[in-house]
Amino acid sequence: MCGIVGYLGPRRAVPVLLDGLAKLEYRGYDSAGIAVVEDGVLQVHKRAGRLAALEENLQGRSFGACTGIGHTRWATHGRPSDGNAHPHTDCTGRFAVVHNGIIENYLGLREWLIEQGHTFRSETDTEVLPHLIEHFYRGDLVQAVRRAVERINGSYAMVVLAAAEPDRLVAVRQDSPLVVGLGEGENFLASDIPALLNYTRRTHILADGEMAVVTAGGVQVWDSRGEPVEKPVFQVKWAAAQAEKNGFDHFMLKEIHEQPRALKDTLSGRLAADGSGVQLPEITLAPEKIKSIRKIFITACGTAYHAGLVGKQVIEKLARIPVEVDIASEFRYRQPLIDQDTLVLVISQSGETADTLAALREAKRLGAEVVAVTNVVDSSIAREADHVLYTWAGPEIAVASTKAYTTQLVAMYLIALHLGALRGTVSPAETRQIVTELKKLGDKAHVILNNCKAIKDFAADCSRCEDVFFIGRGLDHAVALEGSLKLKEISYVHAEAYAAGELKHGTLALIEEGVPVVALTTQQSLFEKTVSNIKEVKAREAKVVAVAMDGLKEVSKVADHVIFIPNTHPILAPVLTVIPLQLLAYHTAVARGCDVDRPRNLAKSVTVE
Ligand code: F6R
Repeated sequence: MCGIVGYLGPRRAVPVLLDGLAKLEYRGYDSAGIAVVEDGVLQVHKRAGRLAALEENLQGRSFGACTGIGHTRWATHGRPSDGNAHPHTDCTGRFAVVHNGIIENYLGLREWLIEQGHTFRSETDTEVLPHLIEHFYRGDLVQAVRRAVERINGSYAMVVLAAAEPDRLVAVRQDSPLVVGLGEGENFLASDIPALLNYTRRTHILADGEMAVVTAGGVQVWDSRGEPVEKPVFQVKWAAAQAEKNGFDHFMLKEIHEQPRALKDTLSGRLAADGSGVQLPEITLAPEKIKSIRKIFITACGTAYHAGLVGKQVIEKLARIPVEVDIASEFRYRQPLIDQDTLVLVISQSGETADTLAALREAKRLGAEVVAVTNVVDSSIAREADHVLYTWAGPEIAVASTKAYTTQLVAMYLIALHLGALRGTVSPAETRQIVTELKKLGDKAHVILNNCKAIKDFAADCSRCEDVFFIGRGLDHAVALEGSLKLKEISYVHAEAYAAGELKHGTLALIEEGVPVVALTTQQSLFEKTVSNIKEVKAREAKVVAVAMDGLKEVSKVADHVIFIPNTHPILAPVLTVIPLQLLAYHTAVARGCDVDRPRNLAKSVTVE
């Protein structure tokens, strides 16, 4: 996720671009840049760091240009640096591109362009775009962009500026947002509406496959077949603060709804096109090393630790390696039994959590190789690990982690399949089944998000209660722990998660009339056992909402409400099961009037021990 802006009109472009980027910094803030055409020459200024670093660099300079593009970056391919910041240009310096998304086939294109004589200056996927445009340019920017787009796969919103055609910007989108702002004698482009609100509330929201050619005086739009499109004007009615959240009341809700996109991004380029397996070039462990692994430790904190609990079950199943999961603050003090045949996985959204970083250092000190799963490129954990698998969830602003968790789960599946393939412990048929289902997760997450009314009703009950219990077996237990943490941290309702079979060993004493119990039952093989446990709490008059895999209809006979999640491969169920639980926590917190995005006593990144 990055933020892009564009401007054409009578004003000086640079202040407008910087103002727009400031409104988009929530989409990424590891580097920023602008490009304008001055006297027929493309000028690009970009800096690693927050927008302020770029502004400082531009201080004292005056630009007359009335057309320009800008970008604020959240790194995916290539660490945050001046060179990897956007805009990117071709070798001749005639074309500048800002891009939000992931070009999946960039490695092949890059090789091909190098063969054609192009020289690359960054590690990004984006840089292939200006080179491709330059390759196809025959005096018409629109045609060149069209031909370049035909060659790329992946997600993109991009805006292109050409030195020879400074009176227009060409913009295209596929699976990443892009909005045209309509002014009087001026027009704007932006990833998101907040960047436009100081200037206009009249917009065109571009759809997938659409291309817009924007001048100061007008906007022309074509669909993916090249047919002209009459775009309706969308009048923005949101207040500025709401616009930043894309119309949602809180960042947390926005981020819950971003999960379909985030899941697809994290898988992007990592599944073999023929569905036969996964490709993780970032994990450069030699096949002999992978075969010699005798034990894996996963260590992390909070929600990331819960992702590790799912990872344990998935890796043990697919790669047949014993896995121990440790809370990072415990791992470092308990003299873990690590040797050269141990692999350590650390999971951290921020990549800066002090306990997780200390655990990583301890693992390395004891001689283990460390693979990090993190969302922040070039974070401390990313820098110190031997291998890094990035989740491409985009910035997570709400303190409560949502899209980071589901993308961490995806990383666990990818790692388990990778290890399983090299150790020969997962069959080609099962790999194919899982890969096919991984591809569908984003759309299935979408289905759940559109059908969660029952959860909102149940949240109203939870908001009036002292305690809520979550139960489940196997993978469902791991997800129950995450559901309970989410509820506690943002609604301040006391919650506990139990392995469903464990209740009768003590906790059942707390179940009485009206106590809410969330029962997860997605695993066919454990279904009857969990149903028995639901009956135990129903016999004590608990109020039960079940989250079940589609098809396990019998649960309706024992639970008060059932949320069905779309059918998927059983090991992938956690990605879908957690979504209703995130929404339960969210709606309970809202009903109790809590500060959802900034729960008391908590911080987004915990850099102290
Ligand atoms: C809960 C939450 C925390 C974090 C934990 C680790 O919603 O966000 O439990 O998961 O503080 O943070 P990272 O993943 O940044 O290491």
